[in-house]
Amino acid sequence: MENTKKVDMTVDIAGIRLKNPVMTSSGTCGYGRDYLDIWSPAELGAIMVKAVSIEPRNGNPPPRIAEIPSGVLNSIGLQNPGVRHFIETDLPWLKSIGATVIVNVVGYTADDYAACVELLDETDADMIELNISCPNVAGKPIGADAKATETLTNQIRNITKKPIIIKLSPNVTSITEIALAAEAGGADAVSLINCPMGMRININTRKPMLANITGGMSGPAVFPLALRMVWQTANAVNISVIGGGGIVKWEDAVEMMMAGADAVFIGAGLFYDPASPLKVIEGLEKYCCDNNLSNVNMITDSLITDR
Ligand SMILES: Cc1cc2nc3c(=O)[nH]c(=O)nc-3n(C[C@H](O)[C@H](O)[C@H](O)COP(=O)(O)O)c2cc1C
Repeated sequence: MENTKKVDMTVDIAGIRLKNPVMTSSGTCGYGRDYLDIWSPAELGAIMVKAVSIEPRNGNPPPRIAEIPSGVLNSIGLQNPGVRHFIETDLPWLKSIGATVIVNVVGYTADDYAACVELLDETDADMIELNISCPNVAGKPIGADAKATETLTNQIRNITKKPIIIKLSPNVTSITEIALAAEAGGADAVSLINCPMGMRININTRKPMLANITGGMSGPAVFPLALRMVWQTANAVNISVIGGGGIVKWEDAVEMMMAGADAVFIGAGLFYDPASPLKVIEGLEKYCCDNNLSNVNMITDSLITDR
């Protein structure tokens, strides 16, 4: 009766014990209320909330979403109500229902990030995820420069004891160079991937499908790219790795963990199947039962590369 054995689904990320390794990714489920009729954020390992900035932002003009084969192209532009609003309204509610909350923080400058984190440091938010990789705002993202990544991480390390996750951009030549810079700066974890940049054109109007012209790609289309980058990163750093990009099914999550992810996130997968986080948790547990794994973290790094 192998299948009735209890699997330990808990994982340790950046020193915090999570009830399972499945998270929903920033920007795809707001501040936790969007899918309440299907799942509660408290059922997840953690919820990564939509980016917050020190001042509210309107984001980019519409259209902000276009379809791509097996995915979605977006240029939301970090629309959000500001960190103070989040701290007053959404965070207390998320904590009251028992969710583990990862706050995605964004800024135009290092001082913007610092101001946000100073406010969050006074709250019971569980972890801070620095979004240094948004492809939809003007200027070169910090996450495209190793030195700038290390400097910002270090500056934030000095103002909070909360675990810091650096969200990495796939729009770089060497993902490991940036991941190692985050680790050197004092990050507790890295999460990847944010959206690779893409573009679509409407051939009848000859206009770009997005008002912003370019946008970030998500969904199954990016899965192999994400898997490769997670594998390279996990082989390079000694801190926790949260892997995602294109995960919809539990089998995708198994692959991502085998490549080295300690936990996974689901983003655009929610648009394909809003119940996917629960199905992925269930599927991971069953996979462990079927393969005699007593702890879900035994999947992590179990890739065999010898032929
Ligand atoms: C509509 C939309 C909004 C997003 N907003 C954010 C954001 O605010 N902060 C962030 O770090 N990533 C943001 N992302 C990126 C996702 O969190 C994720 O890293 C990316 O979409 C790849 O994963 P996926 O293919 O599972 O969606 C957004 C993605 C989408 C589709």
